[in-house]
Amino acid sequence: MKDIVVSGIRSTGNLHLGNYFGALRNFIKMQDENNCFFFIADLHSLTTHPKSEDFHAKVRQVLAEYLAAGLDPDKATIFVQSDVPEVSELYTLLNMLAPVGELERTVSFKEKVRKQPDNVNAGLLTYPVLMATDILIHHATKVPVGKDQEQHLEMTRMFARRFNSLYESNYFPEPTAYNFGTELVKIPGLDGSGKMGKSEGNGLYLADDEATIRKKVKRAVTDVGPSVENAPMPEAIQNLFTILEAVSARDTVDYFRDKYRSCEIRYGDLKQQLADDICRVTLPIRERILAITSDANYIAKVAREGADRARSSASKTLSEVKQIMGFKPF
Ligand code: TYM
Repeated sequence: MKDIVVSGIRSTGNLHLGNYFGALRNFIKMQDENNCFFFIADLHSLTTHPKSEDFHAKVRQVLAEYLAAGLDPDKATIFVQSDVPEVSELYTLLNMLAPVGELERTVSFKEKVRKQPDNVNAGLLTYPVLMATDILIHHATKVPVGKDQEQHLEMTRMFARRFNSLYESNYFPEPTAYNFGTELVKIPGLDGSGKMGKSEGNGLYLADDEATIRKKVKRAVTDVGPSVENAPMPEAIQNLFTILEAVSARDTVDYFRDKYRSCEIRYGDLKQQLADDICRVTLPIRERILAITSDANYIAKVAREGADRARSSASKTLSEVKQIMGFKPF
């Protein structure tokens, strides 16, 4: 059966391997079989970057990267969040169903309060409501995201349930976070701990050239190596293996795991392999990014047509929601 699939990526910077393996690769796999809506979350970007000189250029870049990675506007609706004003209106309505205490307990909010204490804005607090709106406005059933978005999906389900029960309707389906085949993905950085992220400064980007990728991988944090057989793996080394598992063949991963277990591993060899396999995945995408970025007309056409399709789905939901809630035209 066809699912309705919705997901987005913020436009705060170029797409990295975490975005690719956590989200974008699933978008591409899902677009053949399902009714998909994939967008660029430029409104969400304002919660951390309220003013950037190149705001529009970044949206354009992510759109080009979507297309270069293989998203097909003939198969999926590809659009920019702010081109669909219905999202902002439904967001206002759903905000009434979101207790502040609940929002304050969200892990991502608490993290941002720590990271940007001088800009704890209301948009950060209601980030999960806007994200739920993105999803519910198209009646999504599946949402391909990385592991870090799990709690936001739980909250989306809660808002859907709350709406359905308050207005005694069965209107919104409860969507689930989705990864093709397996558990949700978390791609770590190369700096020893934590996830790969745009603001962490530890990203391997789809648009990076070969020399940059090789340099970044070479600099990845390691240790002196195991000194006893079957030694437990420290986080920095596990992280290299997690990325290897994403980009390399099974027997390559097994080979290096055996070498680690028997204390024969040479991190230089592991890094060489890792860089080779990352390049194999990203360099063809990089080439297409360069080609598509120079085709301004094509990018504009995709955005316009995507906005039309997304708006027609979103406006239907918005008017039904308003009717359920009791709004009536005079
Ligand atoms: P953003 O831009 O932070 O991340 C976009 C997608 O990339 C995934 N991701 C990762 N996955 C694995 N490992 C990583 N290191 C990693 N870093 C990022 C994220 O899980 C996400 O799937 N709130 C969303 C954007 C959004 C959205 C939505 C998503 C707005 N509305 C509606 C789905 C549905 C976000 O965090 O974007």
